[in-house]
Amino acid sequence: MNLIQEIKRLKEEKDALILAHYYQRDEIQDIADYVGDSYYLSKIAMDSTQKTIVFCGVKFMAESAKILSPDKKILFPNLDAGCPMADMATEEKLIELKKQHPNAKVVAYINSNIDVKAHSDVCVTSSSAMKIINNIKEEEIIFLPDKNLGSYIAEQVPDKKFILWEGFCITHAKVRKEQIEESLKAKPSAKVLVHPECEKNIRDMADFIGSTGEIIDYAEKDSSTDYIVVTESGVIHEMKKRCPSKNFYVPKVTMTCLNMKKTTLEDVYNSLKNDTYEIKIHEDMRLKALNSLQQMHLLSK
Ligand code: 13P
Ligand code: SF4
Repeated sequence: MNLIQEIKRLKEEKDALILAHYYQRDEIQDIADYVGDSYYLSKIAMDSTQKTIVFCGVKFMAESAKILSPDKKILFPNLDAGCPMADMATEEKLIELKKQHPNAKVVAYINSNIDVKAHSDVCVTSSSAMKIINNIKEEEIIFLPDKNLGSYIAEQVPDKKFILWEGFCITHAKVRKEQIEESLKAKPSAKVLVHPECEKNIRDMADFIGSTGEIIDYAEKDSSTDYIVVTESGVIHEMKKRCPSKNFYVPKVTMTCLNMKKTTLEDVYNSLKNDTYEIKIHEDMRLKALNSLQQMHLLSK
């Protein structure tokens, strides 16, 4: 059986849409209808007319799509693909923190679990966070779970007071300053492109900081030829496609998100064939989390 042909056939038969994040395996990106960053995929899932969506990413992404589009069938091909950073924020601790800061607006990175979203005022993604924060009038902001994205935004919005959670992405935390210095020694003219989930000392070395989608767009429009890419290595696939004559280097460390790589072509095939695994959310819970995601799309306009 040719898996790719079968996936295409089933996709047509079921009128399904396949979405893939830029951190997915190359072959998953290649069979997707849309590949993008977290914000782009959330918007496509919400706006698409197809009633069945196969979401190749991690669980919070598929769950967010279901929260925003309860009438669509959201299929999540590999149930084990979670996000360790999302699990670093808990509902109990957030309730406590809100009691200590009753006037603060709660801003949750979309990389969070549904119970945390239920207690949050607005969600953000790395590409929409700045715009959304600037559209919030409250001075005090509880930002969770990513302390790195939170501090990156806080640096640019000095008139607001940020209460940062202690969460972080285990993939972006791996890279060390010395490893980028080593890459720069080999390619001194290369531009350093960094995801805001990286720590401050890494962000300080960047020529450009942005979401996965923004990093890819930057390299496409920029006039340089060499780039050191400091984010999960999956983005290189799209960068090479869009800029075949440019050179992309990665620091000497494995920046692979094992969860993002769990979904295989076989999982996608099974997902389309057997409707596995359909995301189901209790309506009470969905309604509690809905506002934070709706606000994200409203405030990022
Ligand atoms: P973006 O796609 O918004 O850059 O997010 C990166 C990420 O870590 C997703 O889990
Ligand atoms: Fe979570 Fe980091 Fe993996 Fe994204 S790259 S899914 S934030 S662990």
